[in-house]
Amino acid sequence: MNSTLPAPISVIFGMSCLVLPLGRSLYVRKYELKYRMLNDHSETSGGAQALAPVATVVRIVEQAFVNPNLEDGMAGRLDGKVAIVTGAGSGIGRATAVAYAAEGARVVLAELVAERGETVAADIRSAGGTASALTVDVTDSARVETLVAQTVELYGTVDVLVHSAANVPLVNDHDARLTELDDDIWHRIINLFLTGTYHVCKHAGRQMITQRSGSIVLVSTTDALVGVAGLDAYTAAKGGVTALTRSFAAGMAPDNVRVNAICPSFVSSEPQQAWLADATSHDTIDRLHLLPIATPEDIAPMAVYLGADESRVVTGSVFPIDSGYTAFKAKLDVISAMRVQS
Ligand SMILES: NC(=O)c1ccc[n+]([C@@H]2O[C@H](COP(=O)([O-])OP(=O)(O)OC[C@H]3O[C@@H](n4cnc5c(N)ncnc54)[C@H](O)[C@@H]3O)[C@@H](O)[C@H]2O)c1
Repeated sequence: MNSTLPAPISVIFGMSCLVLPLGRSLYVRKYELKYRMLNDHSETSGGAQALAPVATVVRIVEQAFVNPNLEDGMAGRLDGKVAIVTGAGSGIGRATAVAYAAEGARVVLAELVAERGETVAADIRSAGGTASALTVDVTDSARVETLVAQTVELYGTVDVLVHSAANVPLVNDHDARLTELDDDIWHRIINLFLTGTYHVCKHAGRQMITQRSGSIVLVSTTDALVGVAGLDAYTAAKGGVTALTRSFAAGMAPDNVRVNAICPSFVSSEPQQAWLADATSHDTIDRLHLLPIATPEDIAPMAVYLGADESRVVTGSVFPIDSGYTAFKAKLDVISAMRVQS
């Protein structure tokens, strides 16, 4: 067999060697420009409008040349998808944003605390992924609407929404039995966890309807499945999120949009570190689980699955990812207790 390539193939191969690296370099430079402009304009939808020509050039260059996420040429499970991750500066949101980028998604990190989102976005870009951080308060409907518009301006679509925004200290330190609950705490918890979910589902959902495709992944909690004393406002909010997962999934299915929820139990995210470091508290929580307490990185793979096309027949489902928390009656020897010798 003749190993010499025919002349036209050699020419095409040679040009590819020159053009693909050039294209990638051009892409990266355009992306950096786009990212700087985005941050300069992130507080107004007018900024997104101003980005339109740059974003168009970037998309053309990207489509024409290479995907910078996939240095090794392997296809990612989320290759080509655009994902918004709320609360992406910490915990489950951070781990999910990183996992999404590693699987080839272009990620918009929607975070209340700007420097948190920017730090995670910079880490993703340093690793060769594509990410932009936007400062967003999910309790502000107009800001969430602008977030969706900016994402479309940047990357063309919103294929996945992962909603993980949370104020864990507000819950841990201030939630209570209803009879002792401060009215203001009730309203703040419902506003963030339930109304915030309404805002992100509404605006991302509207975009997904126009695309006739999309996947929404809501981070709920096992507290919506098994009662726990003293967390009534949080449980009410997350119970709403969990029930909403089913009704919204039913409503969105005709438009080819899926909606699912993940229910973690205890997760060792940043705000949980204080009690995890306390031996007594740690032991109490540990006794509620069959397996080790989850890290945020243990939750992210389920969010990847639900965002990817491999879960295309999964909707309206609620998944406990909980180290066995909902599967058993705590670490008690129930059977021995029942077999008391008389
Ligand atoms: N950590 C747990 O033990 C645990 C258990 C079950 C469920 N959950 C759920 O998982 C999700 C993530 O929890 P986590 O522990 O990873 O939280 P986290 O505190 O580590 O991260 C939440 C992020 O959301 C951001 N945020 C707060 N308010 C916001 C707002 N209004 N708009 C946008 N961003 C905002 C915070 O700045 C923070 O970076 C939450 O929905 C939480 O209820 C957590």
